[in-house]
Amino acid sequence: MARLTILRYPDPRLHTVARPVAAVDERIRALVDDMLETMYEADGVGLAATQVDVHERLIVMDTSEQRNLPLVLINPEIVARSAEMALNEEGCLSVPQIYDRVERHARVTVRALGRDGQPFEVEAEGLTAVCVQHEMDHLVGKVFVEYLSPLKRDRIRTKMIKKTRDEQRGG
Ligand code: NI
Repeated sequence: MARLTILRYPDPRLHTVARPVAAVDERIRALVDDMLETMYEADGVGLAATQVDVHERLIVMDTSEQRNLPLVLINPEIVARSAEMALNEEGCLSVPQIYDRVERHARVTVRALGRDGQPFEVEAEGLTAVCVQHEMDHLVGKVFVEYLSPLKRDRIRTKMIKKTRDEQRGG
């Protein structure tokens, strides 16, 4: 297993639209394992392949308190959404230390393939529903800050560029 590099906003590669995974083979299973390791190391609850510069429809998540219930969604599709919406604070491993509120469907049903290539369905609510919708946005090239006002987004963009520059200077 290996830790992967997470792209940071406003890297233009984060806006790539992912293509479906053609086959759940050894390459995909290795990618799943590396993404899980990367997500746990970064203390995140979700990671989309887009964020590690792989543009295929694949997400890993773990919203459990014990951090021992990984959920792998390959070629995920939302098949049902609640009319009820919910406002929750979100963050993103590609936009470190930025948190803001985004409105999403309170519950979603998602259909996907697992790490074993078998189809399954999961009914998500609470943090898991937020995470599914947030990560699926990544697969179509959308970062959560795009839901915020242009002013907020510009501030975040400037902050992230400065942060990246400071880190590269070793500061
Ligand atoms: Ni994210």
